[in-house]
Amino acid sequence: MTSMMRTNTELDLGIIAAPVAKHWDRAEQILVEQFRTPPPWLERLMSDRAIFGGKRLRPLLLLLSGSACGDIREGHLVLAAAIEMIHLATLIHDDLIDGATTRRQMPTVNVEHGPTNSVLLGDWLYAQAFVLAARSQSTAAVDALARSIRSVCDGEIRQHYCQGDFDLSLDDYLAMIEGKTASLCAAACEIGAIMSHATTDQRAAMASFGRHLGVAFQIVDDILDLVGSPERMGKTLGTDLANRRVTAPLIFALSCEPPAIRARVRRMVDAPTVDATGLLSLIEESGALQLSWELAKRHCRLAQAISRQVADEAIAQAFVLLTEFVAQRTY
Ligand code: IPE
Ligand code: IPE
Ligand code: MG
Ligand code: MG
Repeated sequence: MTSMMRTNTELDLGIIAAPVAKHWDRAEQILVEQFRTPPPWLERLMSDRAIFGGKRLRPLLLLLSGSACGDIREGHLVLAAAIEMIHLATLIHDDLIDGATTRRQMPTVNVEHGPTNSVLLGDWLYAQAFVLAARSQSTAAVDALARSIRSVCDGEIRQHYCQGDFDLSLDDYLAMIEGKTASLCAAACEIGAIMSHATTDQRAAMASFGRHLGVAFQIVDDILDLVGSPERMGKTLGTDLANRRVTAPLIFALSCEPPAIRARVRRMVDAPTVDATGLLSLIEESGALQLSWELAKRHCRLAQAISRQVADEAIAQAFVLLTEFVAQRTY
């Protein structure tokens, strides 16, 4: 995890990644190699996006899960690099959709190179990720990867159609984030298990760990979109309210006690233009942020319960630390 060592993420995630640290350099090398080959335009569009920044959460999940179920081999490393490429593709497309200007402390591809290049570069990354994944010679792993991308797209499409739907239920929101975010985390864990020839039960347990962690991760992301530090996060925040996205904090604020605050929130979201500052202070006043943190922590506890099934103590401990990281992250 060379790149991770260069960022401000090293302290927490560096410790969590310790049990799989000896595999990072090779996984990172495979990732970087994908961008060091022609075509020449690729290097210009990518600049250092693949190499710098990013928490490398999905490769970490894949390697931890692989270690929980057996030994790490070249196939794990290839797929760890592939899943980070897929994640990167989703970010590039997502930034275009959200109108974000900063990602991983850098201008987004859309800002620097426009929408056409964003679409095509994202597509290129998806394709190259599968070229790489095929090297693992595991049909089951490639299948899990493809299915997770389908779920990401499904979640993003749902989100698009729910834009401005302030009656969205908490269950619908959870289903949406399970698709757009948790499915890739679940796939990372499941693929780690597949490549370690895990039993069906182990595979399901690992996938479930990743899914709960991913749900918690996105709920926290949605809280931080409102109250996080853009410098610390290294990306554009505030895009959810600006795009009339209904996330956990808003759902809780729309159903909060007392009714007077609830009614004020409703009036604000029904107004023709969003007063983001006013809405944010109402959300804070309503107690919705706290309820959102609690919901995220509930999913972290569900993930933690699964990590108790892991026999290897160091890996089980890393899983627990990961849930704690997600439950209190600021970036
Ligand atoms: C950002 O993911 C997109 C979400 C699912 C919220 P990360 O927060 O893992 O992004 P990087 O990889 O660290 O940049
Ligand atoms: C996007 O969710 C999740 C993806 C599928 C990329 P967000 O839109 O909240 O992610 P950020 O905040 O831009 O990283
Ligand atoms: Mg976004
Ligand atoms: Mg976000």
